[in-house]
Amino acid sequence: MARILVTGGTGYIGSHTVVCLMEQGYDVTIVDNLSNSNREVLDGITSITGHRPDFVEADCQDRTAMEQVFTTYPDIQAVIHFAASKAVGESVEKPLLYYRNNVLSLLTVLETMQRHGVNNIVFSSSCTVYGQPDEAHLPVDETAPRQQALSPYGNTKQINEDILTDAAHADKALRVILLRYFNPIGAHPSAKIGELPNGVPNNLLPFVTQTAAGLRPMLRVFGDDYNTPDGSCIRDYIYVMDLAKAHVKAVDRLLAATASEQVEVFNLGTGRGLSVLEIVRTFIEVTGQNVPYEIVGRREGDIEQVWANPAKANRVLGWKADTPVADVLLSAWNWEKHIRGI
Ligand code: UD1
Repeated sequence: MARILVTGGTGYIGSHTVVCLMEQGYDVTIVDNLSNSNREVLDGITSITGHRPDFVEADCQDRTAMEQVFTTYPDIQAVIHFAASKAVGESVEKPLLYYRNNVLSLLTVLETMQRHGVNNIVFSSSCTVYGQPDEAHLPVDETAPRQQALSPYGNTKQINEDILTDAAHADKALRVILLRYFNPIGAHPSAKIGELPNGVPNNLLPFVTQTAAGLRPMLRVFGDDYNTPDGSCIRDYIYVMDLAKAHVKAVDRLLAATASEQVEVFNLGTGRGLSVLEIVRTFIEVTGQNVPYEIVGRREGDIEQVWANPAKANRVLGWKADTPVADVLLSAWNWEKHIRGI
């Protein structure tokens, strides 16, 4: 079976994807610098799949290390490039760090692939490239225009999409799939892997589960005066395992060489928008946990509402995100309980 190089494979989405790849019989090599994850994730993956993925601790910007990886594993046939920094707020504070890490990592991976004749790459992009789509483009499909990024983080996603598109234009052998994720949540049903935020979580779900676990006194809901039915922001929350499975479909597609275009773009979401308050209330309902919350002012830079039209991914990849949100929220809570020993 083919070997897949997964950069950022001990991270949140990466680790779930590694599990799905291994379950489909792929051999996996993970490269991760452990800057926002840890080695124990490998134990979780091993316990779920019964096999330990090969792991190289390295930074994707490190040309020598990446050269070594491709030399050690000449059977690599595709790369899934997750490795990147992803905190929107931090990217505003430290833009150079974000540009260096996110852009140089991709460049180094691509150059090394080229030297070793590896022609298939799946890239982790984000719905952030659409900004706030106008009403005519909601739910948002892949033809919606990209808009000026609101943060350096968002800009690195756009720049990297452009780098890949230009590289494919120049090299007709290169095949690229850009996956634009909406909001991934939840954890593997075994609760052996999940999201491990560093410090105070920025994202909604980890904040909710940490509040339910008593680690945070109160969830702050950022704004209830938006132009939405209950006034809170709307997002397309997608189960991380559903998202992970889309990566396997993307890799299958690249290896089967069935893509009609050299660069293909897919929105990965459920097609359903949920508000912050709906998420919080559903979480309380399905877990029976109390989540104290208060409404506070809007968070700077937040988008009012965005959700996906995933029809293209449904049709072309033969994939659908259909796990009920109640199950997803429960999986997030089970993971929180697991890491806190509750
Ligand atoms: C954003 C980006 C996404 C990026 C992600 C990385 C958009 C549309 N999305 O996600 O591309 O990958 O950051 O972190 O730009 N909320 C609260 N209280 C909290 C935390 C969040 O009310 O304590 C609300 C937010 O206001 C928002 C929703 O929950 O309405 C989701 O927030 P979050 O989980 O941070 O994700 P996005 O901001 O949508």
